[in-house]
Amino acid sequence: MSRIPREVQLGRRLLGHWAKRADDARIDVIKLKLFITKRCNLDCVHCGIGGAGFDGADELSSAEVLALWAANPRLQMLSLSGGEPFLRDDLCEVALAAARLPKLMALSVNTNGWYSDAVLDLARRVGPAMGRAKLYLAISSDGPPEAHARVRRSEDSWARKEDTLARLRAAAIPNVVIRHNVNVNRWNLDEVVPYIEANEARGEACFVSMYSASRHYSHGAGHHRELRAFREELSQQQALLRRLQDRPGFLPNRFLVLAEDFYETVEREQPVPCFSLRASLIVEHDGMVRPCINFPVDLGRVQEHGFDLEAIASGPKANTLRETIREERCPICWTPNEAFVTMMCNLPNPDVWKDPRQALVRLGRLKG
Ligand SMILES: C[S@@+](CC[C@H](N)C(=O)[O-])C[C@H]1O[C@@H](n2cnc3c(N)ncnc32)[C@H](O)[C@@H]1O
Ligand code: SF4
Repeated sequence: MSRIPREVQLGRRLLGHWAKRADDARIDVIKLKLFITKRCNLDCVHCGIGGAGFDGADELSSAEVLALWAANPRLQMLSLSGGEPFLRDDLCEVALAAARLPKLMALSVNTNGWYSDAVLDLARRVGPAMGRAKLYLAISSDGPPEAHARVRRSEDSWARKEDTLARLRAAAIPNVVIRHNVNVNRWNLDEVVPYIEANEARGEACFVSMYSASRHYSHGAGHHRELRAFREELSQQQALLRRLQDRPGFLPNRFLVLAEDFYETVEREQPVPCFSLRASLIVEHDGMVRPCINFPVDLGRVQEHGFDLEAIASGPKANTLRETIREERCPICWTPNEAFVTMMCNLPNPDVWKDPRQALVRLGRLKG
């Protein structure tokens, strides 16, 4: 009998039904992940961005980021990542402007937690401006101290991010939600699951991602070799995956059950249909639009298209790519892509369920 729970099977069928419809009128970009910088103060072992030596010369300017918000008022979920976003001096300014997007429900900022003062300053200024929406501060946590230092390749990284977390907890700022972003990889595999369980036992949510290799992370052949070895190791770690999926909580953990199938099978299929270029996409630091981090094909820079994401997602190249995704000829990830995971991860947010219509809009089943 399949171990995939009934609600996940049902969700998979419903999403499949919607995603397979050849109806490009349904393009409705509600989720954007903007890599606002590729500069970074660390050089983590699982990520090639820090070691790539970006200098920020080709980053979108503040005015261009503000133009991006202005041209896309339908955005409901916005994630600012990098690189280390807190290296941008204007982060607070652009986050405050994002908080004013009329339909925004969730703004998340990813950080390694190094710059405690800047994180606190942003939380204090942007949190209260969020209105009905929430500000998620997603702090990377890669396991207990030794595992974290191993992954982050920095002895100080643990103490710095713990200090940031402690200050955020103590400040208890309205609309600010603290969240641990935990990447499961070869360098923390032995320690990471008990660490996640301990955090959640204390009431702090962990959003789990799995190691991937991609041009987005400036990865080279070495990282792709690591990925093959990681997949091999995970396929032997069913008990570990089951502990992840059996954690208390709603959809995100339940969907981890799909990872089991995914890592066991050589001829992989998309676990659930992917919404990239329909409901979500990513914008790189230089304005380049791509479907997701795992399928880094260039669709043109926002600056060349009046910053209008839906115009880019409706263009001829995007139409072809959407077909490629529908036919599962993209790289395929264990959940359709990171953006989809983020959407699913927002579903347990009680604010979404206060308004079921909004929840359906977020799932792309209704027009806003
Ligand atoms: C690229 S970082 C950018 C934000 C910030 N610098 C940080 O470390 O949180 C965003 C997230 O991607 C994760 N990440 C890095 N390399 C990865 C990889 N190869 N596969 C999957 N996730 C990765 C990090 O652990 C982090 O949680
Ligand atoms: S994971 Fe974050 S902190 Fe580490 S190198 Fe990548 S961008 Fe920098």
